[in-house]
Amino acid sequence: MSKAPHIVLLPGDGIGPEIVGAARRILEALGDFEFSEELMGGCSIDAHGKALIDAVLYSCKAADAVLLGAVGGPKWDTTDPNAPRPEQGLLELRKGMGLYANLRPVRPSPALVDASPLRPEVIAGTDLLVVRELTGGIYFGESGRDGDSAHDTCEYSAAEVERIARVGFEAAQRRAEGSGRTPRVTSVDKANVLETSRLWREVVGRVAPDYPDVELDHLLVDNAAMQLVSRPSDFDVIVTENLFGDILSDESAMLTGSLGMLPSASLGAEGEPGLFEPVHGSAPDIAGQGVANPLATFLSTAMMLRHGLDRPDDAARIESAVDAVLDRGLRTPDLAGPKEASVGTAEITNAVLTELSR
Ligand code: NAD
Ligand code: IPM
Ligand code: MN
Repeated sequence: MSKAPHIVLLPGDGIGPEIVGAARRILEALGDFEFSEELMGGCSIDAHGKALIDAVLYSCKAADAVLLGAVGGPKWDTTDPNAPRPEQGLLELRKGMGLYANLRPVRPSPALVDASPLRPEVIAGTDLLVVRELTGGIYFGESGRDGDSAHDTCEYSAAEVERIARVGFEAAQRRAEGSGRTPRVTSVDKANVLETSRLWREVVGRVAPDYPDVELDHLLVDNAAMQLVSRPSDFDVIVTENLFGDILSDESAMLTGSLGMLPSASLGAEGEPGLFEPVHGSAPDIAGQGVANPLATFLSTAMMLRHGLDRPDDAARIESAVDAVLDRGLRTPDLAGPKEASVGTAEITNAVLTELSR
């Protein structure tokens, strides 16, 4: 018998422990997993004075996969450049695990068309994937404060652009497989202003001929932000740099009705463990109330089973169970309209568990 997969859980802060606790129940219902729970984020600052200690990074690197809730919150918000911040832990973890590719699929559930602020006919048919570069750019360049001035440096190497571009092209090919449609990649940059973006555009263009079946176009990020809400169903794969990907993915979350619906997978080298995390943050405004939407974390758990643990059937079971509870009309408050009834985290989790046991 093969050994149970070892999953490191990083609940984090705010609603993190609520949604990761719910996801653990889902995994326990699916089969045999070995869990260890570690501190990362504000909770680790409180315990150790820093957001990610070496022992936790090592244990994540040794795991089969890592599932994260969210980190941060007002308790640790600071503008002091020398004070520790929860978000540093997440960035160090991404860098330390070599997770350069962040996949954020945006596939609005038909049951939720009325939950989005956009009209149903605008959203209809939307199924896109944001491929966000995750270990470069302005997030990781030299930064500092000098008296009354501050700087953050954006740097990219051709090699960093090339490897994420390939992830984008390959994802587009995989998504179109067997459908007969032409796979499409939209590369998003700010090449009219930034040197890093001109390098980005050049390298993406250089890689493209290796994928002759994929249609490539380039959009400037301001225009892309607008097009995402005016014609979302025209997009297939969007490949973009770290900061633009962060912003565009929160924007595209609203196509699904709530930030509480968007999952993600952060992947590195083949065979190395991935980190699976909802796109949203620690939602301090609703933490501790038992009303957080756990579905983005369940869908991230499905991505973990598919991309990290090679269990596509279990992944599909979670996705169908989530669809089924939404079809039945269950809504956490973030998804419910002003006149609609809503349920809490425990209730929607129980409903997903019931679907899984069918
Ligand atoms: P946020 O994503 O935490 O919340 C934005 C809004 O969306 C809030 O109104 C919140 O209540 C709502 N929301 C988010 N997730 C929800 C869910 N699952 N169910 C219901 N409603 C949900 O963004 P923010 O308020 O800008 O950031 C709060 C903290 O989270 C900050 O410290 C930030 O740095 C951190 N953050 C962490 C991560 C991460 O750990 N991956 C991601 C984003 C933000
Ligand atoms: C995300 C978050 C993080 C990011 C923060 C918390 C560092 O917003 O995962 O989208 O900016 O990458
Ligand atoms: Mn973000």
